[in-house]
Amino acid sequence: MEIIQSPQAYSEVYKKSIEDPEAFWADVASDFQWRKKWDKVFEWDFHKADVKWFLGGKLNITENCLDRHLPHKAKQTAILWESNDPHEPSRHITYQELYDNVCRVGNMLKNQGVKKGDRVCIYMPMIPEVAYAILGCARIGAVHSVVFAGFSAGSLIDRINDSGCKVVLTTDGSYRGDKKIDLKIIVDEALVKCPTVEKTIVCRRTMNPVSMKAGRDLWWHDEIKKVSSDCPAEEMDSEDLLFILYTSGSTGKPKGMVHTCGGYMVYTNYTFRTVFQYQEDQVFWCTADVGWVTGHSYILYGPLSAGATTVIFEGVPSYPDMGRFWHVAEKHRVNIFYTAPTAIRSLEKAPLSFVNNYDLQTVKILGTVGEPINEEAWHWYHEHIGRGLCPIVDTWWQTETGGIMISPIANVTKLKPTFATLPLPGVQPAVMDENGNELTGHGVEGRLTLKFPWPAMARTIYGDHQRFKDTYFSTFPGKYFTGDGCKRDEDGFYRITGRVDDIIIVSGHNMGTAEIESAIDEHSAVCETAVVGFPHDIKGQGVYAYVICYDMPHEEEKLRKEIRDLVSKIIGPIAKPDKIQFVSGLPKTRSGKIMRRILRKVAEGETSNLGDTSTLVDPAVVDEIRNGAL
Ligand code: PRX
Repeated sequence: MEIIQSPQAYSEVYKKSIEDPEAFWADVASDFQWRKKWDKVFEWDFHKADVKWFLGGKLNITENCLDRHLPHKAKQTAILWESNDPHEPSRHITYQELYDNVCRVGNMLKNQGVKKGDRVCIYMPMIPEVAYAILGCARIGAVHSVVFAGFSAGSLIDRINDSGCKVVLTTDGSYRGDKKIDLKIIVDEALVKCPTVEKTIVCRRTMNPVSMKAGRDLWWHDEIKKVSSDCPAEEMDSEDLLFILYTSGSTGKPKGMVHTCGGYMVYTNYTFRTVFQYQEDQVFWCTADVGWVTGHSYILYGPLSAGATTVIFEGVPSYPDMGRFWHVAEKHRVNIFYTAPTAIRSLEKAPLSFVNNYDLQTVKILGTVGEPINEEAWHWYHEHIGRGLCPIVDTWWQTETGGIMISPIANVTKLKPTFATLPLPGVQPAVMDENGNELTGHGVEGRLTLKFPWPAMARTIYGDHQRFKDTYFSTFPGKYFTGDGCKRDEDGFYRITGRVDDIIIVSGHNMGTAEIESAIDEHSAVCETAVVGFPHDIKGQGVYAYVICYDMPHEEEKLRKEIRDLVSKIIGPIAKPDKIQFVSGLPKTRSGKIMRRILRKVAEGETSNLGDTSTLVDPAVVDEIRNGAL
């Protein structure tokens, strides 16, 4: 595949990719090491939510991330690990070392009876071993399900049980800024309710004392000694499962998005090399956690399949001070830096000396992901981190899409702050109005859909294909519905305006309002809850909860704290409501549906223009809500 390097090349390649997708994708896919070449490039039927890529192809993604870089990259750093503690030495893991460690983990899992197709839950912090764990699963054809290590025991239980994981890989604890979290205790609490889990393998990180359950729990350092670094890669079909990753849905239950081997490999590599214009020997740093899709695709699979040096950072941007990101970028001479708008907004508030203390000359390309970036944050990032020179690639994509879909190509696409700009070659967006008509031409606004498949799209929701079909393919029959609103301006550039469903994006994390509502409802004093998002300076969106109690609370602050703690316990600290307003009723239509539009407006601070409230059972409730707004 030739990498696009000019706007003309973009237009030509884009055109070709639409006119002859088969030839386009066959060319992209020819860059890989296949055990057996595919027989057919794709097959699809969006009415049945049925998509397959590179049919009949055989491969193992780890051979493409590791074996094929050896021996010539044996001594090149594959992973550059930076601790949470700035005084702890960094670790440089070469491609040879990564290969050896991945193979050992593969063998360690096999020793515990893990076979191709078995699900393995990975609940670990950002240490090199989490990369060995993920790739070790892929090596032997086990399906990894990484659960973000900030989730609570309750969230872990749901995810482990939904996919029936056999083994859990975890650590004794984790460091995050000045906090130490006892991960193993959370795992112990969860496993009481996870009957499918046979073994837990615990990697040492914090050295805090943990209890080990005989017959179930094993130490990573003991088990890893017992195995060799010779682990032939399992031969996988293109459409065999590579991983499951949970994302929030509009109903309370998280959706286990299923990604498969061939298409995901091709697409993450293609987008990594195209969007970031990665050049040999560059250092790439994506600040996401591996618990999210961004970490899967652009800390591990994309960069490693391209033979890049990828940074794994254990810490947080604010510890020990607000200059930490820039310190790490200078220290490791980072060339491409990819982060979330929420991080930029929080760092932008700190004095500029935190940036100016460091030499960021090596940084050539900047990226953002996860939520719309506001104009102010874009300019700050461009001017102070990019020295006014580096392009910013505002990459729009989703857990479901597997990789970047709409984004500038660095140094190729004209930039327009707050715009994700243009679809990558192979990506075919369509903007729809609410009645299901496609809005063609420029200068339109509506709902963002995709009318043609791409290799990394999720294939199903684990164990629930009907839900997959209903969620993504029923709103606009024949099209994949993203759940996002967008504008296409006069130049044909796309601007993503945010979710149009009941999902909110808090600090770049996708959360279902229903999931938070059901956590709040667990409180014995609570009768009913409605959660909406509201604009938040740093987080992008904050969580606003309207809560009806059985009896109006006497001590509101105490109850608010209890509710926050409960949400933190059931889902995790990221879902804690920022504002809790106690109300005596909610605005409901005669059919019992909550009119969220009104709640959103009040949460946004809009009190006058609430639209038509005549269909409500009790319009008076709106006045109460409005008067009590926080
Ligand atoms: O609303 C869009 C927003 O994040 C959603 C996907 O969230 P998740 O599956 O957690 O994946 C996040 C990382 C890929 C999208 O539906 N989103 C993501 N990137 C952008 C964005 N919104 C605006 N601009 C973006 N660049």
